[in-house]
Amino acid sequence: MVEKRVYLETYGCQMNVGDSERLLGFLSEANYAETDDPSKADLILINTCSVRDKAEHKVYSAAGRYRELKALKPALKIAIAGCVAQQKGEGLLKRLPFLDVVLGTQSVHRIVDALEQASNNGRVAMTGESDAIDPDEFASIRARKGDVKAFVSIMRGCDNFCAYCIVPHTRGREASRPPGEIVSEVERLAATGVREVTLLGQNVNSYGLKRAGRTEGSVGVGFPELLRMVAVVEGIERVRFVTSHPKDISDELMGLFAEEPKLCRHVHLPMQSGSTAVLEAMGRGYTLKDYADKFRKLKALYPDMAVTTDVIVGFPGETDEDFELTMEAINELRFDNVFSFKYSKRPGTRAAGFQGQVSDEVKAERLTTLQAAQRDITFELNKERVGSRMKTLVEGRSRNDSRVYMGRTSCNRIVNFTSYDDASGPTMGEIVDVDVTDAYPNSLRGVWSKDLRLC
Ligand code: 5AD
Ligand code: SF4
Repeated sequence: MVEKRVYLETYGCQMNVGDSERLLGFLSEANYAETDDPSKADLILINTCSVRDKAEHKVYSAAGRYRELKALKPALKIAIAGCVAQQKGEGLLKRLPFLDVVLGTQSVHRIVDALEQASNNGRVAMTGESDAIDPDEFASIRARKGDVKAFVSIMRGCDNFCAYCIVPHTRGREASRPPGEIVSEVERLAATGVREVTLLGQNVNSYGLKRAGRTEGSVGVGFPELLRMVAVVEGIERVRFVTSHPKDISDELMGLFAEEPKLCRHVHLPMQSGSTAVLEAMGRGYTLKDYADKFRKLKALYPDMAVTTDVIVGFPGETDEDFELTMEAINELRFDNVFSFKYSKRPGTRAAGFQGQVSDEVKAERLTTLQAAQRDITFELNKERVGSRMKTLVEGRSRNDSRVYMGRTSCNRIVNFTSYDDASGPTMGEIVDVDVTDAYPNSLRGVWSKDLRLC
């Protein structure tokens, strides 16, 4: 079979990155190889995000760029997958006349089928939804030789319906994959050299739970148990997970870090706001006190634990006082990192109809204030690591200086470190001790401890 080429662009969250890996996996079974040159591609695939308006606009401009290529090469297929595809469906085919395939979030495994249909019968939109996971849905994995890290989806969808969020509308109801399937995927990844897996779900803490009013869909194992099962896979040295919902993070899970050394010392715990009134309007199911208690408990149990968060500024009704409360929480809790966003009105969500929408000017001002404060905190916390020895997974090597390597600590900081002995440097995927010598706003610098004797 003649090899075909796919050019893939991915926007959005880690869930989308995971879906892109699956798309490439299914496509490789149909003899597609990835290219980084769109002009050489037989298929251009854009995996889209609609969590904020800006992300959605990027899709239209990205798709527009490829329109001319298609005019030059009529056999070229252009496909849009992901959240925008799920949400807009047929509407995308109407809006973009050069588009061949629209592939929803629950149809990733049908990419090859969709391309065939488009070749035989013309343009196609596949955006079916179902409550149960199709047995084939996660049947592809893409283990690239040389990759030391991989994402593994453990569930899909979300049942929380936070007032601002489009995800439950684009990714459907929560459903968990059977644990045996997840473990065997991790085993296959380990066999190709993967050393670190990140388990993915919108709300991993509710993995395997029987939801109220639903008897089907229980997989008999909860999230802490799943983590234990994954951590014992031979060859896997590190396990991470995202995202934890603060209302669902349990004492059992918090206790697990002491028991399970492979579990990385990092939790991403989206706070969203420091004002309990705003949290209530968002429908988050916790107060600031509940959140801060959980945060402090994690830090008290594990002083080296990194906690990162997400914050939305300018949610409808957010007053100056509410924003002040968010700033107080930022300054008191001192997160290792904060991903902050201006509230973006998403069609079909509850908050889109709320009174008190905040002007873009005020949102921009609040975002700047928050980001400036957090930049200093992240830098300060990085500086506190200088002088310590940190276990680092070796992920890459500098192109400019072969003695410089790049890795990540258990607490998810990037470390660039030097190994003076060129001939016997560390290997990719190895976990080495790095002595941290300098801190930067977004990374650390250090020396491989084995090489200290050479300095
Ligand atoms: N506007 C702004 N930010 C949003 N997020 C989700 N929906 C919106 C929205 N409508 C943010 C939340 C979430 C992160 C992935 O994206 O902070 O945790
Ligand atoms: Fe969106 Fe809330 Fe679900 Fe997260 S928990 S995906 S913010 S609805």
